[in-house]
Parts: sequence; C-alpha cells; structure tokens
Amino acid sequence: MKIARIDSHSIKVPYTFGGSHQGEGLRTWTTNNILLVRVETDTGIVGWGEAFCYACTDAVRAALHNMVAPLALGQDARDIARLSYDLQQKLHLFGRYGITIFALSGLDIALWDIAGKAANLPLHRLLGGAGHDSLPAYASLLKYRDPEKVAARAKQAFDQGYRHIKLHETEEAEVRVLSSCSEGTCGTCETAVLEGEPDHRDSVLTDEEQEANDCMMICVSRSRCPRLVLDL
Ligand code: FES
Repeated sequence: MKIARIDSHSIKVPYTFGGSHQGEGLRTWTTNNILLVRVETDTGIVGWGEAFCYACTDAVRAALHNMVAPLALGQDARDIARLSYDLQQKLHLFGRYGITIFALSGLDIALWDIAGKAANLPLHRLLGGAGHDSLPAYASLLKYRDPEKVAARAKQAFDQGYRHIKLHETEEAEVRVLSSCSEGTCGTCETAVLEGEPDHRDSVLTDEEQEANDCMMICVSRSRCPRLVLDL
C-alpha cells in the first residue's frame, strides 16, 4: 500500500487572544490556524492528519509539499516508524522543531489514520488498547504577560470545569523566575516545590533528585497532580 497523493487544506478558526499582548512572532493572533493533511494511498484509503501552524500556515504548507511530499510519495504507507525516522533524518538540516516537524506530524497522523482504516479497527487498538474510557482535558493558556489577565483567564478556565491549567508566564513579577536555556538543560530556573508532585522533564536533576520532588526545572517540567505549589 503506497502513498499516492498528499493534499492539504488550511483551516483558520477565529478566536480572541484574551490578553493585550500579541502572540509569538509579535503578531496578534486572531485565528487558530491548522493545516489539515490529506493522504491517499494507491488502494484508495484516505487518512487525515493535523499539522500545527501557529501563524505560519504558508510555511508549513510549503514544507509539506516541497520537502516532505517528494520524499514520502511512493513509500509504503504501512511502514510508519521507518518512514518517520527516514524523513526526520533526511530533513534534519531544516530543523528538529518548528515548521519541518509540524509538516512531518501532519503526515504521521494521517498515516496512523490510514493504518486504523486499513485494519478496520479503532486506532487505539493498534496502539495497545484504550486503557481509559475518558481522559481529563487541560486548559493551555497563552502568554498574557499581565498578572490580572492571567488570573482572569485561569479563573475562567477553572469556572469552565478545567482542573488542569497550563500557564506560560515567566516574565511578570508575580511569576518571574530566572531562565536561560528554556530546554531543561542548564538548571537556571530551578524552583523549590512546596506541595504536589512534579512531572520532571529536565535533564539536569539526577533520578534521586527527581524522586525527592522538592525542586523542579519549571521551563520544561509540569505538574502530575491538580495542585502544585512553588516557591516563586
Ligand atoms: S532555563 Fe535552563 S533548565 Fe530551565
């Protein structure tokens, strides 16, 4: 079963940023942009993937059609892991994060959709089973750089029923911390944990230090529990 065709469709969902500041790239976000990736096989099965876009839909589309598609067309749609590895290696020069990976992700998701349809099974069955009947959603807030707006948006999310809320503030006085690499590798943002259990994602702390749960690198680590209290 070969990959015979790759198309894309741009979706722009209007939304309000919720703060006075602009989004990444210093442009005010007025839409949530997604590039839907449609992959068709020579057997006629169609899979759909979603490529994350921020405000760079045109760039992701160009990466998909000019860099990813020429390498993927004609390849075995069932050999997802090998193809994904192969494409990432061939395209690593163009970035290990961002536009290239967004485009590859859209293809990857579409291929898994095809795998589920080819097997006539829900995709979770191919990935080891569902495990849960439902999963808690979390509210991923944007970076407002305004303490009052952060509080208002967090309360709004809480009132809407979310019990997991992801913040992105690191610059306002109320939440300011030292930061350097923002990748969990330097240790600059180490912050004491007063209550709760962190989900450590850094490469600074040893296994023993992570198990102690008394500090965390807040640039990359997250919370494992509904309430995490930090000494900021
Ligand atoms: S800023 Fe370097 S580990 Fe967080």
